[in-house]
Amino acid sequence: MTRYPVLIGGEEVDGQATFADLDPSTGREFAEVARGGPDEIDAAVAAARDALERSWRRTKVAVRARILRRISEFIRRDRDLLADLESRDTGKPLRQARSDADTAARYFEFYASAVETLYGDTIPIDSDLFVYTLREPYGVTAHIIPWNYPLQIGARTVAPALAAGNCCVLKPAEEAPLTAIQLGRIGLEAGLPPGALNVVPGFGEEAGAALAAHPGIDHLSFTGSVEVGKLVSKAAADNVTPVTLELGGKSPNVVFADADIEAAMPVLVNSIIQNAGQTCSAGSRLLVEASAHDRIVGELVDRFQHVSLGPGRSDPDMGPLISATQLDRVASYVELGKTEARAVTGGGPPHDDALKDGFFFMPTVFDDVPPTAVIAREEIFGPVVAVSSFTDLGEAAHLANGTDFGLVAAVWTRNVNTAHTVAREIRAGQVFVNTYGASGGPEMPFGGVKRSGHGREKGLAGLLEFTQVKTVAMKLEPGRA
Ligand code: NAI
Ligand code: MG
Repeated sequence: MTRYPVLIGGEEVDGQATFADLDPSTGREFAEVARGGPDEIDAAVAAARDALERSWRRTKVAVRARILRRISEFIRRDRDLLADLESRDTGKPLRQARSDADTAARYFEFYASAVETLYGDTIPIDSDLFVYTLREPYGVTAHIIPWNYPLQIGARTVAPALAAGNCCVLKPAEEAPLTAIQLGRIGLEAGLPPGALNVVPGFGEEAGAALAAHPGIDHLSFTGSVEVGKLVSKAAADNVTPVTLELGGKSPNVVFADADIEAAMPVLVNSIIQNAGQTCSAGSRLLVEASAHDRIVGELVDRFQHVSLGPGRSDPDMGPLISATQLDRVASYVELGKTEARAVTGGGPPHDDALKDGFFFMPTVFDDVPPTAVIAREEIFGPVVAVSSFTDLGEAAHLANGTDFGLVAAVWTRNVNTAHTVAREIRAGQVFVNTYGASGGPEMPFGGVKRSGHGREKGLAGLLEFTQVKTVAMKLEPGRA
C-alpha cells in the first residue's frame, strides 16, 4: 500500500501516526496517509514563515509567475496520473477528474498572469503630497479544503495566495488528501522555495483545528460545511485573523416556460449529477414555471433513469458518494424527504450487487416540494434535486431566495428582460443565464452571500483577497528643486 507523507519545509515527513484512505467505490483502504496534528501544523507554519522572510516575499514578480506557470505545465504533464489518483480517492468519474486537473493547471496559469499586472494606485490629494498604494501579501496563509474537489479547490486557493507572495499551509480533508499532497510535490519540483507550500493531511478536529487557531497565520481560507466554517471563524477571531469562507449552497435553476428546454435539460441534469451532487454549487433546486412543469419533470426523470453508476475509474456518468457517513447523511435526508414530497425516481442505493460495497446512491428527483420542506432548504450534498413550481417572475425570485444560502443560481429564458430582472433579484454570488457551472472559468469571481460564506475566490477578486493594501504618503518640497 502506498504511503503518503506530510510535506513541511520541502521535506516529506511521516508524522506520528497514519490513517487509512478509502476507495469509496469499494469501501476498501488503498492508501496510508501521515496523520498530521498540532506539532506538524506548528512546524508547517514555521516553515512557511521562514520561506516568506527568506525569499518569497521579496522574489521578483516575474520569477514567482514563472514558477507558477511551471506548476501548471507539470500538472498538465501529470494529468492522467493526477486524474487517476483523484478518481480513486474521491470516486468521481475519470473524465471529471481530468477536467479538474485541467482547471487546476488553469488556476496557476491565470494567477501567474494576473499577478504580473497587479499594480497599486497613485492618489492625487495635494500638489505637495505623493501618495501611492502597495498590494502586499498577508504573509502565512492557511487553507482548509474539503474532499469533493481536492485538486481543483487546492489550486483555486493556493495559486492566488502564492502569486501574491504569501506562503501557504494547506490542510486537505481526511477523506481525500492525495492529490493535494501531489500538488505540494509538484510545487517543489517546479521551483517553489521549500516551505512556500506545506501540505499537512490530517483530521479536521486535530490538524484543521490547530491550523485555524494558530497565532502564526495571517489569513485563513476555508471551504467546507457551514458548521465548521463557524468554528474556524471563531478560532481565527481570537487572533484577529481574516477569514474567507466558501460554505456551499442550495442553488436553484429557475426555468421559465419560454426557455430552450431541449438545450437546458442536459445542463440541469449535470448540475446535480456532477460529482454525485457533492459540489458546493450543485443545482440542487429546480424551480419551473408551472406550464412547463410536466414536460420538464418527465424529461428529467427519464434522463435520471439513464444515468450510469460505477467506480470512478470505469468512467461512468456518476460515481459513489465519498464515504459511509455521507451516504447515511444523504439517505436520511431522502427518507425525511419522502414525508415532505414525492420521490418520483431514485430514492435509495442502487440494486446492483457489483456496487454493494461502495457508497452509491441513485439519482433522485423529488417533485412538488413545498418551499418550507427541509429538502428544499438544506444542503443534502448528494444526487438529489427538489422540484417546485412558480407562476410568475415575482414568485420565481421569491422561491429562489427562499433559503439561507446564496452561492450560485441560473435563469433559463429567451426573454432578456426576465433574465436580467431575475438576475438582479436573486441573492447569490454568481448568476448564470441559459447555462450553468462555476467549474469552468478561473476568470470568474466566485463566492457566497448569506450562509454560503463571504469573500471571493477566482478571478482578479480572488487575487486581491490574498493581498493587503499599504498606503505610502510622502511630503514633497517643490520649492527646493
Ligand atoms: P467539513 O466542513 O467537516 O470538512 C471540510 C474541511 O474542514 C476538511 O478539511 C476537514 O478536515 C476540516 N475540518 C473539519 N472539522 C474541523 C475543525 N473542527 N476545525 C478545522 N477544520 C475542520 O465537511 P464534511 O463533514 O466533510 O461534510 C459535511 C457537509 O458539509 C456536507 O454534507 C456538505 O453539505 C458540506 N460541505 C460543503 C462543501 C463545499 O464545497 N462548500 C465541501 C464539503 C462539505
Ligand atoms: Mg479517500
